[in-house]
Amino acid sequence: MRKKVSIVGAGNVGATAAHWIAAKELADVALIDVVEGVPQGKGLDLLEAMPIAKCDVQVTGSNGYEATANSDIVIITAGIPRKPGMSRDDLLNTNFKIMSDVVSKVVAQSPESILIVVSNPLDAMAQTAFRQSGFNRERVIGMAGVLDSARFRSFLAEELKVSVESISAFVLGGHGDTMVPLPRYSTMAGIPVTELIAPDRLESIIQRTRDGGAEIVKYLKTGSAFYAPSAAAVEMTEAILKDKKKVLPCAAFLEGEYGIDGYYIGVPCKLGSNGIEQIVEIKLTPEEDAALKKSAAAVKELCSVIGV
Ligand SMILES: NC(=O)c1ccc[n+]([C@@H]2O[C@H](COP(=O)([O-])OP(=O)(O)OC[C@H]3O[C@@H](n4cnc5c(N)ncnc54)[C@H](O)[C@@H]3O)[C@@H](O)[C@H]2O)c1
Repeated sequence: MRKKVSIVGAGNVGATAAHWIAAKELADVALIDVVEGVPQGKGLDLLEAMPIAKCDVQVTGSNGYEATANSDIVIITAGIPRKPGMSRDDLLNTNFKIMSDVVSKVVAQSPESILIVVSNPLDAMAQTAFRQSGFNRERVIGMAGVLDSARFRSFLAEELKVSVESISAFVLGGHGDTMVPLPRYSTMAGIPVTELIAPDRLESIIQRTRDGGAEIVKYLKTGSAFYAPSAAAVEMTEAILKDKKKVLPCAAFLEGEYGIDGYYIGVPCKLGSNGIEQIVEIKLTPEEDAALKKSAAAVKELCSVIGV
């Protein structure tokens, strides 16, 4: 039996995630959206690409949750994206209502599934999904760090004029202005980038990483990034479906790790078939620790507004 991934929200991120999953032949895909016709049309279009992509997977689109029954993973991208001038936090109240509604319907159909939350503001939406689902923390994971570190890696590879494959990078913290890129754990073939790039240049790359989402919103004007975000959600999906035990930066519900208790925040996680199988704790410098705590305080504030 093939694995099954449902994607709620057949907009830019959701439909592109479906595209990556189908083109990698990872699983059958069920696309869901509130807008009539959109998931059906995109699903059918993608299905018709499969003979050319040489992939045997089913892709369906519908407005009802019956189609999501018994999913292994559900990726939730439903909600509104940012427009120029908006912060991710401006989406809080609208997306909270959408997330609560979506999660209750998803859980009724797929009680054993693993949820990957993408909708913004990410950490508060992951916390909403966790509370609403009643799942254990291993099975409700937020996507942000894979995207933020991919942006950081792209900029570092460009700066050093090397393959993106030679660069690894780590970004911790919340998805937003308070994210914490860790240059000393970011390397070119194992060599810390702090040895290779001048401090002021590195600082401007870090700032560009923090502003990576806004840079694209400014260009697009009517929406936000979706190729890299969907690729990031699918990297997490693949790690889980293939039980890869891959260590990726994900938003996880912390219970004392890193001195944070009761909130979602981006930390290194080992992903396998059970979802988050380990939260990897690393020793932070006092400055990094302070930046992470500041990030957590921002998440806490948002969560208190919506009471999760
Ligand atoms: N975590 C990240 O790093 C990251 C990156 C990019 C985007 N995002 C977020 O992901 C979300 C989706 O972004 P997008 O660019 O795909 O937006 P989009 O507007 O293209 O798609 C969102 C889709 O959700 C649907 N939707 C709305 N309410 C729904 C409901 N109740 N049930 C089912 N579907 C519903 C809409 O009809 C729309 O098709 C946004 O909140 C955005 O901010 C997060």
